Amino acid sequence: MTLLIKNGEIVTSDRRYKADILVEGETIAQIGDDLSVPEGAEVIDAGGKLVFPGFIDPHVHIHLPFMGTFAKDTHATGSQAALIGGTTTYIEMLAPAGSEKLLDGWNLWTGLAASKSACDYTFHIGVTRWDDETEATLRELAAGGMKSFKVFLAYKGAFGIDDAALYKTLALAKELGAIVTAHCENAELVSQLQQKLLSEGKTGPEWHEPSRPEAVEAEGTAHFATFLEMTGAKGYVVHLSNEQALQVALDAKARGVDISVEGVAPHFLLDRSLTLQPDGAKYVMSPPLRDKSNQAALWKALEDGQIDTVGTDHCPFDLSQKAMGRDNFTLIPNGIPAIEDRVNLMYTYGVSRGGLSLNRFVDALSTRPAQLFGLYPRKGAIEVGSDADLVVYDPAYRGQISAGTSHMNVDYSAFEGWQLDGRPEVVTVRGQVAAEQGRFVGEPGRGQLLRR
Ligand code: URP
Ligand code: ZN
Ligand code: ZN
Repeated sequence: MTLLIKNGEIVTSDRRYKADILVEGETIAQIGDDLSVPEGAEVIDAGGKLVFPGFIDPHVHIHLPFMGTFAKDTHATGSQAALIGGTTTYIEMLAPAGSEKLLDGWNLWTGLAASKSACDYTFHIGVTRWDDETEATLRELAAGGMKSFKVFLAYKGAFGIDDAALYKTLALAKELGAIVTAHCENAELVSQLQQKLLSEGKTGPEWHEPSRPEAVEAEGTAHFATFLEMTGAKGYVVHLSNEQALQVALDAKARGVDISVEGVAPHFLLDRSLTLQPDGAKYVMSPPLRDKSNQAALWKALEDGQIDTVGTDHCPFDLSQKAMGRDNFTLIPNGIPAIEDRVNLMYTYGVSRGGLSLNRFVDALSTRPAQLFGLYPRKGAIEVGSDADLVVYDPAYRGQISAGTSHMNVDYSAFEGWQLDGRPEVVTVRGQVAAEQGRFVGEPGRGQLLRR
């Protein structure tokens, strides 16, 4: 299979230039001016379009047993929605309950994704308890290329771990050369504040944010940073939501702690006032949507590269699931779906209508995730020899987001009616066209598990 993408403007993390791209089989074979069309090649005219490396979502939940229910997507629906939105690789959190064996979790999660995912995928290996068996499994999985772990400082009684397990996970990661990603909120403070608010009759979704205030996330971030400092491990704060926590991470970095920061699309764009609406449960995620005043700092940090990556924390629950917490905000399944919308939202509100440079946009949504998680330059780059994961992007497209036209398996959108100033026209995964103009045209189950 030969594919020639002609007349496009290639945008990578550090360059913007006009050139054609020749794809042979699954990889990029040549990049140059006015390449001739090989016999039998499929030609895509990218005139007037931008050509990006396939986008990587470093933080998604597809299979997720959580808060007494399950996130709604399957790897079939989640991957197809991802591809339509320009994401060609995602990293899923493999998160077995603390009562389950890690190896059983590995078998379950990989079994669910295999032969279902249409895009490439890999996992952050969730460490939800510590014992000899967990350690042995982590060693085995890391040797097999699963070199990123995930810990939750929040979610007491579910995924959350104690400080001994945190220390041991980080020490092992340091030994194995793995990176540890962390949800940084102090679980005990969240639990105490939740009980206090409920006892005061404060039960609605608008009390979710006050039950896990910015300072609680800043404390979690400081806690994680201190443990990184003591162990010398490499860490990554997921879904950092506010300026105070950001400052903590930046201070740690300034004193030499190896810490990177992820922002997620909802925190850049949505704010806590939405939880006051009658359907406020739609907007409940953790860390919570914050006061709008944080957003300028997040956008600036993104442009400056202080926020390294942008993911989604895609976590789809239907409205009927959200209604489980109608009388008690602590029972609302936490999560906002966005896997299909991240690229278009960040392009529209970051690049087209904001101050985010195109290069940093590509860097944060593709190249940095690839570099941090051991996928670069196979992914996250437009180079000869890289996988031909390419997004031909139409900046002239105008449309809007709606649950009715979305491909995610969920019955609402937190971004309903939001306007878009662009969308992927053609998306390829390893040389095959997988999505075109808002439609999935690929092969279900073609996605590969990426070992790193
Ligand atoms: O609210 C969220 N973020 N749900 C998914 C689980 C997590 O903490 O990432
Ligand atoms: Zn989290
Ligand atoms: Zn998450």
